[in-house]
Amino acid sequence: MKVLVTGCCGYIGSHTCVELLNSGYEVIGIDNFSNSKKEVLDNIGLITNQNMIFYEGDMLDEKFLMSLFRTHSIDCVLDFAAYKAVGESVEKPIEYYTNNVSSVLNLLKVMKKFGCKRLVFSSSATVYGSPKKVPITEEDDTGGTTNPYGTSKLFVEQILKDLYQADSSFAICILRYFNPIGAHKSGLIGENPNGIPANLMPYISKVASKELECLQVFGDDYKTKDGTGVRDYIHVVDLAVGHVKALEKLEKEKKGLFIYNLGTGTGYSVFDLIHTFEKVNHVKINYKIVNRRPGDIAECFSNPAKAKKELGFSCQYSLEDMVRDAWNYEKKNKS
Ligand code: WQD
Repeated sequence: MKVLVTGCCGYIGSHTCVELLNSGYEVIGIDNFSNSKKEVLDNIGLITNQNMIFYEGDMLDEKFLMSLFRTHSIDCVLDFAAYKAVGESVEKPIEYYTNNVSSVLNLLKVMKKFGCKRLVFSSSATVYGSPKKVPITEEDDTGGTTNPYGTSKLFVEQILKDLYQADSSFAICILRYFNPIGAHKSGLIGENPNGIPANLMPYISKVASKELECLQVFGDDYKTKDGTGVRDYIHVVDLAVGHVKALEKLEKEKKGLFIYNLGTGTGYSVFDLIHTFEKVNHVKINYKIVNRRPGDIAECFSNPAKAKKELGFSCQYSLEDMVRDAWNYEKKNKS
């Protein structure tokens, strides 16, 4: 089966390419390197001992997509190509909606033209906004997103629902990620954001490697077990395996629109992450408590039962595995 992976050199895309290649899929990757590096391709090859077909290009370039679909008969698309920095999205809404929404409209137009009707879409738990209750199930209300990044994911989910309403021969899987962290055990691929990390795990890693001086803990006055924010951290390799399971589901079902949370179902606080990282990796993390970050919520974690029941998916890695693998990657890739 020939699978197109957009954003194949990104954090989630690269880990998913590894799992797809190891599962015997023929992978074609595209990336515009706006938030990734070409060397990731070599590292995917080193890990899997396989080559994948790659094209540098942009999903906003319809001619590029047309020529790719004309050259290869694509059976399914896994779409990871999106900007994903919440704070940046507030400053650059036009860039975020153009890149995250218009590119998907382009992709769907070309897919339809070439009769490619299977899509796995990378969505986010951010579409739940500030959840009324936790754990969150797929039936809970979405909306009330507080930033253009989350709203762009919500828009694409609606586009996909409308598309399926109009043409039920499509087979679409929407995967709502909670908080992906960690890295492949080889340390060859991992989370390597441009500039100062916005997310907790990469920031902790850079404090541990002394590239950054001190972690700012955004508030310890939330109504949570220790006052700091609670999230559902999922190992990025578990997340990648979830995509292979979603692909298998679309192969089996032939058509339909399916939505799944991908999380562990366990919430961990900021202090849990700091203390677990210190214990597992025998390093000290300097931190100081500061004011809450605007737009942050107290608690967000999943009920993963639906993915377990319908995809046969459950997470294999612990929080200890996540922090160990994140640190292993950081040590091997210090900038
Ligand atoms: C986690 C916790 C912060 C940084 C976002 C997106 C989500 C997904 C993951 C793409 C919170 C606290 C953080 C720091 C801190 N992205 N924190 N100091 O905000 O849950 O989710 O990234 O798919 O869609 O919304 O992740 O890692 O930024 O924050 O105290 O320097 O860590 O307050 O409680 P978040 P995060």
